[in-house]
Amino acid sequence: MNASWETFTAVPPADKLDFFRKDGRLYDCLFAQQFDRALLDRLCALADHMRLITKERAGDDFLRGLLADKRAMLYFSQPSTRTFLSHMSACHILGLRVMETRDLKTSSEVKGESLDDTIRTFASYVDLIIMRHHGAGVAERAAWVLNRSPRPVPVINAGSGPDEHPTQALLDVYSLQRYLGTVDGKHIVMVGDLKRGRTVRSLSQLMGNYKGVRLSFAAPDAFRMAPDILEFLKRRGVPYRETSDLDSALSDADAVYMTRIQDEHDKDGESGRVDTGPFKLDRARMALLPERTVVMHPLPRREEIPAELDDDPRIVIFRQERNGMWARAALIAHIFGLEERVLAYRRPS
Ligand code: NCD
Repeated sequence: MNASWETFTAVPPADKLDFFRKDGRLYDCLFAQQFDRALLDRLCALADHMRLITKERAGDDFLRGLLADKRAMLYFSQPSTRTFLSHMSACHILGLRVMETRDLKTSSEVKGESLDDTIRTFASYVDLIIMRHHGAGVAERAAWVLNRSPRPVPVINAGSGPDEHPTQALLDVYSLQRYLGTVDGKHIVMVGDLKRGRTVRSLSQLMGNYKGVRLSFAAPDAFRMAPDILEFLKRRGVPYRETSDLDSALSDADAVYMTRIQDEHDKDGESGRVDTGPFKLDRARMALLPERTVVMHPLPRREEIPAELDDDPRIVIFRQERNGMWARAALIAHIFGLEERVLAYRRPS
């Protein structure tokens, strides 16, 4: 595509999938709509296979040899614990050597270097860029710049501003599949700050890939799910309901996806004026949940899941965060065209 950035960025995601693909697979991973059902199923199977392989030293060594000649840059301009560490661990699983820039004060951006130049500089030294940025659409801009340059390298979006967090949505789907058997036909309840949370935006879009899924959005009035996502769900025929009554949604939930209030985005302290009490879990609400239900959270959590509930086996948040490492390792293996080699691996007899 030779369009200017202004023209390109105005194109809806679904119409520019090809620009971020190469050789029949994802090259850059930027937004949730790049994942179709077939790819999600393949990545989940690949993640399962990789975690099985690494149970033995020989399998671990095999995976670590696959990208031992490659390097990755982790470029994170916003705080991160899990997303950073799980991507780094995913790189380690495949033998990629990693470098990091987390504090922009140490980057030449403070000397006035443009983001485009910074990104192109990373590409001079590494074979993969994994980036989290406070600006919406910045990861896409980076991929757009590199794909038009003589030395493109893949870009993975590890969270961009308030808009997208596609690899979180991938690990969420992987977790749902592991704990519920399938995502088809399930009732997923998303709770909290749905307006400003990028995880629920990306996850809602992935739900369009599954049959018979129902969504409930339980949020305070001020933080309801944004209209663009509701429109998307309508177009994809995913039934949803918005409610401020969490209790009513819990009794037939298959998964409850809790989120924290994103008060760092407050313009004039609006979070402080919202009663978040009705959108927290406690023992009484846990009692409303069926035995089969799982409780998830992208983390970090605050008081919406009190730590005193953690011994309840339905709360899978720490297993979910570990799944992120495997889902991201599978994604990187896919991007580098290693899927078949990984799946073909059998332990030496
Ligand atoms: C989320 C994020 O950064 O969007 N965290 C994460 O990546 N696991 C959610 C949050 O910060 O609330």
